[in-house]
Amino acid sequence: MTEDAEVIIRRMTEADLPRVKGIDSLMTGEERAASWPVEAEKLWAVYRPLLSFVAECEGKVVGFILGDIRGVDYGTSASSMSGWIDMVGVDLRYQRHGIGRKLVEAFYQECQRNQVRARVLIREDDQRLKKLWGAAGFKRGKLIDFER
Ligand SMILES: CC(C)(COP(=O)(O)OP(=O)(O)OC[C@H]1O[C@@H](n2cnc3c(N)ncnc32)[C@H](O)[C@@H]1OP(=O)(O)O)[C@@H](O)C(=O)NCCC(=O)NCCS
Repeated sequence: MTEDAEVIIRRMTEADLPRVKGIDSLMTGEERAASWPVEAEKLWAVYRPLLSFVAECEGKVVGFILGDIRGVDYGTSASSMSGWIDMVGVDLRYQRHGIGRKLVEAFYQECQRNQVRARVLIREDDQRLKKLWGAAGFKRGKLIDFER
């Protein structure tokens, strides 16, 4: 990818699914967040997340973010809805060029317009994603989980 290549962020449509599936299927092993094992295609088929965007560069889709504005899943606030980010992925060849950040920003701006907070769940020990969300302006929320 050349440094001056333009990146366009737009809403995802059904027609983007094969390409999104292709990007998703290449993310395996350490590359894939342990907290996000579901395939993008299945997530789309079941939930059809309304707040989903893709990034286009050099004439093709190179990244995606799947998410939705949903209700009180985890009781984060008795009355509030939140913009939940379910999955973000960028084609390996296009990573570290700010595309992930642009996708998150588009999602966040839409949350702002709808007056809801943007949220994402990750593993406590996932340093890479902690860095990513920190760099995107996210701060730690109030949810924790218990296990026995
Ligand atoms: C996570 C992902 C979407 C980031 O996409 P990207 O386009 O490379 O991200 P950006 O270039 O916008 O990077 C934003 C910031 O995230 C952090 N970051 C991204 N990739 C990183 C890596 N491999 N290691 C450490 N920090 C990383 C950095 O802070 C980076 O900012 P910097 O380049 O100025 O240091 C991409 O790495 C990916 O598809 N990963 C596999 C799928 C995945 O785990 N998705 C779940 C995300 S919740």
